[in-house]
Amino acid sequence: MEKLVIEGGKPLSGTIRIQGAKNAALPILAASVLSDGNLIIENVPDLLDIQVMLDILTSLGSRAVLTGQKVHLDMSRLHSSHIPEELMKQMRSSIFLMGPLLARFGSVTVYQPGGCAIGERKINLHLQGLEALGAVIEETGSTIVCRAEKLTGADIVLDFPSVGATENIMMAAAAAVGRTTIHNAAREPEIQDLQHFLNAMGARIYGAGTDTITIDGVSRFHPCVYRIIPDRIAAGTLMVAAAATRGNVTLEQVNPQHLTSLIHVLKRAGVQIISSGDIMNIQCHNRPRRVERIVTSPYPAFPTDLQSLIMVFLSLADGLSIVKETVFEGRFKHVDELGRMGADIRVDMNAAYIKGVPRLYGATVEATDLRAGAALVIAGLAAHGTTVVEQIHHIDRGYEQIEKMLTRLGARIRRKSPEGEELSSPLDRIG
Ligand code: EPZ
Repeated sequence: MEKLVIEGGKPLSGTIRIQGAKNAALPILAASVLSDGNLIIENVPDLLDIQVMLDILTSLGSRAVLTGQKVHLDMSRLHSSHIPEELMKQMRSSIFLMGPLLARFGSVTVYQPGGCAIGERKINLHLQGLEALGAVIEETGSTIVCRAEKLTGADIVLDFPSVGATENIMMAAAAAVGRTTIHNAAREPEIQDLQHFLNAMGARIYGAGTDTITIDGVSRFHPCVYRIIPDRIAAGTLMVAAAATRGNVTLEQVNPQHLTSLIHVLKRAGVQIISSGDIMNIQCHNRPRRVERIVTSPYPAFPTDLQSLIMVFLSLADGLSIVKETVFEGRFKHVDELGRMGADIRVDMNAAYIKGVPRLYGATVEATDLRAGAALVIAGLAAHGTTVVEQIHHIDRGYEQIEKMLTRLGARIRRKSPEGEELSSPLDRIG
Protein backbone atom coordinates (compact mmCIF):
# COMPACT_ATOMS: atom_id res chain seq x y z
CA MET A 1 0.00 0.00 0.00
CA GLU A 2 1.12 3.57 -0.69
CA LYS A 3 2.59 5.76 2.03
CA LEU A 4 3.41 9.39 2.72
CA VAL A 5 6.98 10.29 3.71
CA ILE A 6 7.29 13.57 5.61
CA GLU A 7 10.38 15.54 6.66
CA GLY A 8 9.02 17.53 9.59
CA GLY A 9 10.02 20.65 11.50
CA LYS A 10 9.32 23.24 8.79
CA PRO A 11 6.66 25.93 9.40
CA LEU A 12 3.95 25.97 6.71
CA SER A 13 3.54 29.20 4.80
CA GLY A 14 1.64 30.40 1.77
CA THR A 15 -1.92 30.53 0.45
CA ILE A 16 -4.27 27.68 -0.46
CA ARG A 17 -7.85 27.38 -1.76
CA ILE A 18 -10.16 25.14 0.27
CA GLN A 19 -11.78 22.19 -1.55
CA GLY A 20 -15.54 21.74 -1.79
CA ALA A 21 -17.22 19.97 1.13
CA LYS A 22 -17.18 16.16 0.84
CA ASN A 23 -19.98 15.86 3.39
CA ALA A 24 -22.19 18.26 1.44
CA ALA A 25 -21.39 16.81 -1.99
CA LEU A 26 -22.25 13.21 -1.03
CA PRO A 27 -25.88 13.84 0.11
CA ILE A 28 -26.39 16.38 -2.71
CA LEU A 29 -25.25 13.86 -5.35
CA ALA A 30 -27.64 11.35 -3.74
CA ALA A 31 -30.50 13.90 -3.78
CA SER A 32 -30.00 14.47 -7.52
CA VAL A 33 -31.82 11.15 -8.20
CA LEU A 34 -35.07 12.99 -7.34
CA SER A 35 -34.75 14.87 -10.63
CA ASP A 36 -35.07 13.25 -14.08
CA GLY A 37 -33.00 15.73 -16.04
CA ASN A 38 -29.50 17.14 -16.43
CA LEU A 39 -27.83 18.77 -13.43
CA ILE A 40 -24.44 20.39 -12.86
CA ILE A 41 -22.89 20.33 -9.38
CA GLU A 42 -19.90 22.68 -9.01
CA ASN A 43 -17.00 22.81 -6.51
CA VAL A 44 -17.10 19.03 -6.01
CA PRO A 45 -13.83 17.70 -4.51
CA ASP A 46 -12.02 14.96 -6.44
CA LEU A 47 -11.95 12.28 -3.72
CA LEU A 48 -12.20 8.49 -3.56
CA ASP A 49 -15.58 8.73 -1.77
CA ILE A 50 -16.93 10.99 -4.52
CA GLN A 51 -15.70 8.55 -7.18
CA VAL A 52 -17.56 5.71 -5.43
CA MET A 53 -20.79 7.75 -5.26
CA LEU A 54 -20.50 8.51 -9.00
CA ASP A 55 -19.88 4.80 -9.69
CA ILE A 56 -23.05 3.92 -7.73
CA LEU A 57 -25.14 6.50 -9.62
CA THR A 58 -23.76 5.14 -12.90
CA SER A 59 -24.57 1.55 -11.85
CA LEU A 60 -28.20 2.68 -11.31
CA GLY A 61 -28.39 3.92 -14.91
CA SER A 62 -27.55 7.60 -14.63
CA ARG A 63 -24.69 9.44 -16.32
CA ALA A 64 -22.41 10.89 -13.64
CA VAL A 65 -19.04 12.35 -14.65
CA LEU A 66 -16.61 14.55 -12.68
CA THR A 67 -14.53 16.90 -14.82
CA GLY A 68 -12.29 19.25 -12.90
CA GLN A 69 -14.50 20.23 -9.96
CA LYS A 70 -17.77 19.91 -11.90
CA VAL A 71 -20.11 16.89 -11.91
CA HIS A 72 -22.38 16.55 -14.94
CA LEU A 73 -25.42 14.40 -14.13
CA ASP A 74 -28.08 12.99 -16.44
CA MET A 75 -30.80 11.34 -14.37
CA SER A 76 -33.18 10.71 -17.28
CA ARG A 77 -32.15 7.06 -17.68
CA LEU A 78 -32.02 6.10 -14.01
CA HIS A 79 -33.66 2.65 -13.93
CA SER A 80 -32.64 0.85 -10.76
CA SER A 81 -32.80 1.40 -7.02
CA HIS A 82 -30.74 -1.66 -6.06
CA ILE A 83 -27.40 -0.41 -4.83
CA PRO A 84 -24.62 -2.94 -5.68
CA GLU A 85 -23.36 -4.52 -2.45
CA GLU A 86 -19.69 -4.31 -3.44
CA LEU A 87 -20.02 -0.53 -4.00
CA MET A 88 -21.99 -0.07 -0.79
CA LYS A 89 -19.14 -1.79 1.10
CA GLN A 90 -16.66 0.74 -0.30
CA MET A 91 -18.52 3.71 1.15
CA ARG A 92 -21.10 3.54 3.94
CA SER A 93 -22.37 7.02 3.02
CA SER A 94 -24.20 5.39 0.11
CA ILE A 95 -26.91 4.92 2.75
CA PHE A 96 -27.85 8.53 1.82
CA LEU A 97 -29.36 7.11 -1.37
CA MET A 98 -32.13 5.29 0.51
CA GLY A 99 -34.43 8.28 0.97
CA PRO A 100 -34.27 9.73 -2.56
CA LEU A 101 -34.38 6.34 -4.34
CA LEU A 102 -37.37 5.30 -2.22
CA ALA A 103 -39.10 8.55 -3.15
CA ARG A 104 -38.39 8.09 -6.86
CA PHE A 105 -39.00 4.35 -7.31
CA GLY A 106 -41.24 3.36 -4.39
CA SER A 107 -38.67 0.79 -3.29
CA VAL A 108 -34.95 0.59 -2.62
CA THR A 109 -32.52 -2.22 -1.75
CA VAL A 110 -29.39 -1.46 0.23
CA TYR A 111 -27.02 -3.43 2.43
CA GLN A 112 -26.16 -2.94 6.07
CA PRO A 113 -23.30 -0.41 5.86
CA GLY A 114 -21.75 -1.89 9.00
CA GLY A 115 -19.41 -0.17 11.37
CA CYS A 116 -15.99 1.27 10.74
CA ALA A 117 -12.86 2.14 12.72
CA ILE A 118 -14.55 5.01 14.56
CA GLY A 119 -17.66 3.21 15.71
CA GLU A 120 -20.73 1.04 15.13
CA ARG A 121 -22.35 3.63 12.84
CA LYS A 122 -25.95 2.45 13.41
CA ILE A 123 -28.68 3.46 10.95
CA ASN A 124 -31.74 2.88 13.16
CA LEU A 125 -32.66 6.59 13.08
CA HIS A 126 -32.56 6.57 9.26
CA LEU A 127 -34.91 3.55 9.15
CA GLN A 128 -37.27 4.87 11.85
CA GLY A 129 -37.58 8.16 9.94
CA LEU A 130 -38.43 6.45 6.64
CA GLU A 131 -40.95 4.19 8.43
CA ALA A 132 -42.61 7.30 9.91
CA LEU A 133 -43.10 8.51 6.31
CA GLY A 134 -44.89 5.23 5.44
CA ALA A 135 -42.07 2.95 4.35
CA VAL A 136 -42.16 -0.79 5.08
CA ILE A 137 -38.67 -2.10 5.82
CA GLU A 138 -37.53 -5.73 5.64
CA GLU A 139 -34.10 -6.63 6.94
CA THR A 140 -32.86 -10.08 5.85
CA GLY A 141 -29.26 -10.74 6.82
CA SER A 142 -27.25 -7.84 5.43
CA THR A 143 -29.96 -6.84 2.92
CA ILE A 144 -32.42 -4.05 3.64
CA VAL A 145 -35.45 -3.71 1.33
CA CYS A 146 -37.51 -0.59 1.83
CA ARG A 147 -40.91 -0.14 0.11
CA ALA A 148 -43.50 2.64 0.09
CA GLU A 149 -46.49 2.86 -2.26
CA LYS A 150 -46.77 6.45 -1.15
CA LEU A 151 -44.76 8.62 1.26
CA THR A 152 -46.84 10.77 3.60
CA GLY A 153 -45.58 13.70 5.65
CA ALA A 154 -45.10 13.06 9.38
CA ASP A 155 -43.90 14.59 12.63
CA ILE A 156 -40.51 13.00 13.40
CA VAL A 157 -38.42 13.40 16.57
CA LEU A 158 -34.81 12.22 16.32
CA ASP A 159 -33.37 10.64 19.51
CA PHE A 160 -30.02 12.08 18.44
CA PRO A 161 -29.34 14.90 15.92
CA SER A 162 -27.89 12.43 13.40
CA VAL A 163 -26.49 14.16 10.29
CA GLY A 164 -27.19 11.25 7.95
CA ALA A 165 -30.63 10.48 9.34
CA THR A 166 -31.65 14.15 9.05
CA GLU A 167 -30.47 14.18 5.41
CA ASN A 168 -32.13 10.88 4.45
CA ILE A 169 -35.45 11.97 5.96
CA MET A 170 -35.24 15.39 4.26
CA MET A 171 -34.71 13.81 0.85
CA ALA A 172 -37.58 11.33 1.21
CA ALA A 173 -39.95 13.89 2.79
CA ALA A 174 -39.22 16.36 -0.04
CA ALA A 175 -41.32 14.09 -2.31
CA ALA A 176 -43.89 12.97 0.29
CA VAL A 177 -47.51 14.11 0.27
CA GLY A 178 -48.03 16.78 2.92
CA ARG A 179 -45.86 18.31 5.61
CA THR A 180 -42.98 16.69 7.51
CA THR A 181 -41.37 18.28 10.55
CA ILE A 182 -38.06 16.94 11.83
CA HIS A 183 -37.47 17.78 15.51
CA ASN A 184 -34.01 17.56 17.09
CA ALA A 185 -32.57 17.75 13.58
CA ALA A 186 -28.83 18.01 12.96
CA ARG A 187 -27.76 21.65 12.38
CA GLU A 188 -24.51 21.16 10.39
CA PRO A 189 -23.79 23.55 7.46
CA GLU A 190 -23.96 20.54 5.13
CA ILE A 191 -27.64 20.14 6.08
CA GLN A 192 -28.24 23.77 5.05
CA ASP A 193 -26.42 23.11 1.78
CA LEU A 194 -28.68 20.12 1.11
CA GLN A 195 -31.78 22.24 1.81
CA HIS A 196 -30.55 24.93 -0.61
CA PHE A 197 -29.88 22.30 -3.29
CA LEU A 198 -33.26 20.57 -2.86
CA ASN A 199 -35.04 23.94 -2.98
CA ALA A 200 -33.05 24.82 -6.13
CA MET A 201 -34.67 21.70 -7.66
CA GLY A 202 -38.14 22.89 -6.57
CA ALA A 203 -38.48 21.45 -3.07
CA ARG A 204 -40.08 23.46 -0.25
CA ILE A 205 -37.88 23.04 2.84
CA TYR A 206 -37.31 25.52 5.68
CA GLY A 207 -35.31 25.59 8.89
CA ALA A 208 -32.09 23.73 8.03
CA GLY A 209 -29.39 24.97 10.39
CA THR A 210 -31.85 24.94 13.28
CA ASP A 211 -33.08 21.90 15.23
CA THR A 212 -36.49 22.00 13.51
CA ILE A 213 -36.81 21.46 9.75
CA THR A 214 -40.12 21.73 7.91
CA ILE A 215 -40.61 20.04 4.55
CA ASP A 216 -43.71 20.49 2.37
CA GLY A 217 -43.58 17.67 -0.20
CA VAL A 218 -43.75 18.41 -3.93
CA SER A 219 -44.42 16.06 -6.85
CA ARG A 220 -41.82 17.28 -9.30
CA PHE A 221 -38.16 18.32 -9.19
CA HIS A 222 -36.47 20.24 -11.97
CA PRO A 223 -32.79 20.23 -12.95
CA CYS A 224 -30.46 22.94 -11.63
CA VAL A 225 -26.87 24.10 -11.43
CA TYR A 226 -25.55 24.18 -7.86
CA ARG A 227 -22.26 25.08 -6.13
CA ILE A 228 -21.14 23.13 -3.03
CA ILE A 229 -19.99 25.00 0.10
CA PRO A 230 -16.31 24.92 1.19
CA ASP A 231 -15.16 21.94 3.27
CA ARG A 232 -14.98 23.18 6.87
CA ILE A 233 -13.14 20.06 8.04
CA ALA A 234 -10.49 20.34 5.31
CA ALA A 235 -10.16 24.03 6.26
CA GLY A 236 -9.90 23.15 9.95
CA THR A 237 -7.26 20.55 9.14
CA LEU A 238 -5.11 23.19 7.42
CA MET A 239 -5.69 25.69 10.23
CA VAL A 240 -4.35 23.16 12.74
CA ALA A 241 -1.45 22.27 10.42
CA ALA A 242 -0.49 25.97 10.22
CA ALA A 243 -0.70 26.35 14.00
CA ALA A 244 1.08 23.08 14.84
CA THR A 245 4.04 23.96 12.59
CA ARG A 246 4.13 27.58 13.90
CA GLY A 247 3.53 28.78 10.37
CA ASN A 248 1.75 31.59 8.58
CA VAL A 249 -0.96 30.34 6.22
CA THR A 250 -3.78 32.05 4.32
CA LEU A 251 -6.87 30.07 3.32
CA GLU A 252 -9.07 31.14 0.41
CA GLN A 253 -12.69 30.12 -0.19
CA VAL A 254 -13.27 29.33 3.48
CA ASN A 255 -16.37 30.14 5.53
CA PRO A 256 -15.19 31.28 9.00
CA GLN A 257 -18.81 31.10 10.26
CA HIS A 258 -18.59 27.30 9.94
CA LEU A 259 -15.46 27.14 12.12
CA THR A 260 -16.28 29.30 15.15
CA SER A 261 -15.68 26.52 17.71
CA LEU A 262 -12.21 25.71 16.30
CA ILE A 263 -11.30 29.40 15.97
CA HIS A 264 -12.27 29.90 19.64
CA VAL A 265 -10.07 26.99 20.78
CA LEU A 266 -7.05 28.04 18.68
CA LYS A 267 -7.26 31.65 19.89
CA ARG A 268 -7.42 30.46 23.51
CA ALA A 269 -4.18 28.56 22.78
CA GLY A 270 -2.53 31.74 21.52
CA VAL A 271 -2.95 31.36 17.75
CA GLN A 272 -3.55 34.56 15.73
CA ILE A 273 -6.52 34.23 13.34
CA ILE A 274 -7.74 37.08 11.15
CA SER A 275 -10.67 36.65 8.72
CA SER A 276 -12.12 38.89 6.04
CA GLY A 277 -14.96 37.52 3.91
CA ASP A 278 -13.87 34.09 2.61
CA ILE A 279 -10.17 34.65 3.40
CA MET A 280 -8.58 33.58 6.69
CA ASN A 281 -4.98 34.03 7.91
CA ILE A 282 -3.57 31.78 10.66
CA GLN A 283 -0.28 32.53 12.41
CA CYS A 284 1.38 30.88 15.40
CA HIS A 285 4.76 32.14 16.63
CA ASN A 286 5.11 30.62 20.09
CA ARG A 287 4.51 27.34 21.88
CA PRO A 288 0.70 27.04 22.24
CA ARG A 289 -0.96 27.39 25.62
CA ARG A 290 -2.92 24.35 26.83
CA VAL A 291 -6.72 24.37 26.49
CA GLU A 292 -8.30 23.09 29.67
CA ARG A 293 -11.24 21.17 28.19
CA ILE A 294 -12.71 20.47 24.75
CA VAL A 295 -15.87 18.37 24.33
CA THR A 296 -16.91 17.18 20.85
CA SER A 297 -20.63 17.44 20.18
CA PRO A 298 -23.03 18.04 17.26
CA TYR A 299 -22.73 21.35 15.41
CA PRO A 300 -22.19 24.16 16.33
CA ALA A 301 -20.13 22.62 19.14
CA PHE A 302 -16.56 21.39 18.55
CA PRO A 303 -16.75 18.88 15.65
CA THR A 304 -15.82 15.26 16.22
CA ASP A 305 -14.10 15.31 12.81
CA LEU A 306 -11.50 17.76 14.16
CA GLN A 307 -10.90 15.95 17.43
CA SER A 308 -7.84 13.99 16.30
CA LEU A 309 -6.45 17.13 14.67
CA ILE A 310 -6.71 19.38 17.72
CA MET A 311 -5.22 16.57 19.81
CA VAL A 312 -2.00 16.77 17.77
CA PHE A 313 -1.83 20.52 18.31
CA LEU A 314 -2.44 20.19 22.06
CA SER A 315 0.17 17.43 22.36
CA LEU A 316 2.72 20.24 21.77
CA ALA A 317 1.06 22.76 24.12
CA ASP A 318 2.47 23.99 27.43
CA GLY A 319 0.40 22.14 30.02
CA LEU A 320 -2.42 19.58 30.39
CA SER A 321 -5.45 19.66 28.05
CA ILE A 322 -8.49 17.37 28.18
CA VAL A 323 -10.41 16.29 25.06
CA LYS A 324 -13.72 14.42 25.49
CA GLU A 325 -15.26 12.55 22.52
CA THR A 326 -19.04 12.22 22.85
CA VAL A 327 -20.15 11.44 19.26
CA PHE A 328 -18.31 8.26 18.24
CA GLU A 329 -17.26 5.48 20.59
CA GLY A 330 -14.07 4.49 18.74
CA ARG A 331 -12.44 7.74 17.77
CA PHE A 332 -9.19 7.60 19.77
CA LYS A 333 -7.29 5.18 17.53
CA HIS A 334 -4.72 7.85 16.64
CA VAL A 335 -3.62 8.13 20.30
CA ASP A 336 -1.31 5.11 20.30
CA GLU A 337 0.29 6.21 17.03
CA LEU A 338 0.88 9.72 18.40
CA GLY A 339 2.42 8.11 21.47
CA ARG A 340 4.98 6.47 19.22
CA MET A 341 5.95 9.97 18.06
CA GLY A 342 6.55 11.12 21.64
CA ALA A 343 3.11 12.50 22.57
CA ASP A 344 2.07 12.02 26.22
CA ILE A 345 -1.66 11.16 26.07
CA ARG A 346 -3.64 9.03 28.51
CA VAL A 347 -7.15 7.81 27.65
CA ASP A 348 -9.78 7.08 30.28
CA MET A 349 -13.14 6.02 28.80
CA ASN A 350 -14.07 8.79 26.33
CA ALA A 351 -11.64 11.38 27.68
CA ALA A 352 -8.05 11.93 26.59
CA TYR A 353 -5.60 13.68 28.97
CA ILE A 354 -2.95 15.36 26.84
CA LYS A 355 0.22 16.48 28.62
CA GLY A 356 2.03 18.77 26.21
CA VAL A 357 5.63 17.92 25.25
CA PRO A 358 8.22 20.28 23.74
CA ARG A 359 8.47 18.30 20.51
CA LEU A 360 7.35 15.21 18.61
CA TYR A 361 9.71 12.87 16.78
CA GLY A 362 9.28 11.23 13.38
CA ALA A 363 8.20 7.56 13.30
CA THR A 364 6.48 5.04 11.03
CA VAL A 365 2.76 5.17 11.86
CA GLU A 366 -0.49 3.78 10.44
CA ALA A 367 -3.68 5.61 9.49
CA THR A 368 -6.74 3.79 10.88
CA ASP A 369 -9.43 6.12 9.51
CA LEU A 370 -9.77 9.35 7.57
CA ARG A 371 -9.30 11.98 10.26
CA ALA A 372 -6.86 9.93 12.35
CA GLY A 373 -4.73 9.67 9.22
CA ALA A 374 -4.88 13.42 8.66
CA ALA A 375 -3.82 13.96 12.27
CA LEU A 376 -0.76 11.74 11.80
CA VAL A 377 0.24 13.77 8.72
CA ILE A 378 0.06 16.98 10.76
CA ALA A 379 2.05 15.34 13.55
CA GLY A 380 4.68 14.42 10.94
CA LEU A 381 4.81 18.02 9.68
CA ALA A 382 5.41 19.29 13.23
CA ALA A 383 7.76 16.50 14.33
CA HIS A 384 11.56 16.53 14.15
CA GLY A 385 12.84 13.94 11.70
CA THR A 386 11.13 11.67 9.18
CA THR A 387 7.59 10.30 9.53
CA VAL A 388 6.14 7.58 7.32
CA VAL A 389 2.34 7.35 7.29
CA GLU A 390 0.97 4.05 5.98
CA GLN A 391 -2.57 2.96 4.92
CA ILE A 392 -3.06 6.39 3.36
CA HIS A 393 -6.07 5.29 1.28
CA HIS A 394 -8.08 6.33 4.35
CA ILE A 395 -6.78 9.89 3.89
CA ASP A 396 -7.51 9.97 0.15
CA ARG A 397 -11.20 9.42 0.96
CA GLY A 398 -11.49 12.96 2.31
CA TYR A 399 -8.56 15.12 1.19
CA GLU A 400 -7.92 16.13 -2.41
CA GLN A 401 -4.25 15.17 -3.07
CA ILE A 402 -3.16 16.03 0.46
CA GLU A 403 0.54 15.91 -0.38
CA LYS A 404 0.10 18.42 -3.24
CA MET A 405 -1.92 20.75 -1.01
CA LEU A 406 0.75 20.67 1.72
CA THR A 407 3.68 20.90 -0.70
CA ARG A 408 2.14 24.15 -1.95
CA LEU A 409 2.51 25.40 1.65
CA GLY A 410 6.18 24.44 1.79
CA ALA A 411 5.83 21.01 3.40
CA ARG A 412 8.43 18.35 2.58
CA ILE A 413 6.04 15.47 1.87
CA ARG A 414 6.06 12.76 -0.82
CA ARG A 415 3.70 9.94 -1.80
CA LYS A 416 5.66 6.69 -2.26
CA SER A 417 4.97 3.12 -3.31
CA PRO A 418 5.60 0.30 -0.81
CA GLU A 419 8.98 -0.11 -2.56
CA GLY A 420 9.79 3.56 -1.97
CA GLU A 421 9.41 4.95 -5.50
CA GLU A 422 7.85 8.40 -5.74
CA LEU A 423 4.25 8.44 -7.02
CA SER A 424 1.74 10.97 -8.24
CA SER A 425 -1.56 11.20 -6.37
CA PRO A 426 -3.95 8.27 -7.00
CA LEU A 427 -6.49 10.72 -8.39
CA ASP A 428 -4.01 11.77 -11.07
CA ARG A 429 -3.85 8.13 -12.08
CA ILE A 430 -7.66 7.77 -12.12
CA GLY A 431 -7.55 10.57 -14.69
C1 EPZ B 1 -21.62 12.38 9.27
O1 EPZ B 1 -21.65 10.98 9.53
C2 EPZ B 1 -20.28 12.63 8.59
N1 EPZ B 1 -20.20 11.88 7.35
C3 EPZ B 1 -19.15 12.23 9.53
O2 EPZ B 1 -17.94 12.59 8.89
C4 EPZ B 1 -19.27 13.03 10.82
O3 EPZ B 1 -18.26 12.59 11.72
C5 EPZ B 1 -20.65 12.80 11.45
O4 EPZ B 1 -21.67 13.14 10.48
C6 EPZ B 1 -20.86 13.63 12.70
O5 EPZ B 1 -20.68 14.97 12.41
C7 EPZ B 1 -20.84 12.36 6.25
O6 EPZ B 1 -21.51 13.37 6.28
C8 EPZ B 1 -20.63 11.58 4.98
P1 EPZ B 1 -24.29 10.80 12.54
P2 EPZ B 1 -23.05 10.30 10.03
O7 EPZ B 1 -25.43 10.06 11.96
O8 EPZ B 1 -24.18 10.89 9.32
C9 EPZ B 1 -25.19 7.60 15.92
C10 EPZ B 1 -15.80 12.27 8.06
O9 EPZ B 1 -14.75 12.18 8.68
N2 EPZ B 1 -26.30 7.20 15.06
O10 EPZ B 1 -24.47 12.21 12.97
O11 EPZ B 1 -22.87 8.82 9.98
C11 EPZ B 1 -23.85 7.15 15.35
O12 EPZ B 1 -23.59 5.82 15.76
C12 EPZ B 1 -17.03 11.53 8.53
O13 EPZ B 1 -15.97 12.99 7.02
C13 EPZ B 1 -27.23 6.28 15.54
O14 EPZ B 1 -27.16 5.82 16.68
O15 EPZ B 1 -23.04 10.77 11.56
C14 EPZ B 1 -22.86 8.13 15.91
O16 EPZ B 1 -22.46 7.70 17.19
C15 EPZ B 1 -16.71 10.59 9.67
N3 EPZ B 1 -28.24 5.87 14.72
C16 EPZ B 1 -23.68 9.43 16.03
O17 EPZ B 1 -25.07 9.04 15.93
C17 EPZ B 1 -28.38 6.37 13.45
O18 EPZ B 1 -29.32 5.97 12.74
C18 EPZ B 1 -23.38 10.45 14.97
O19 EPZ B 1 -23.73 9.89 13.74
C19 EPZ B 1 -27.42 7.29 12.98
C20 EPZ B 1 -26.39 7.70 13.81
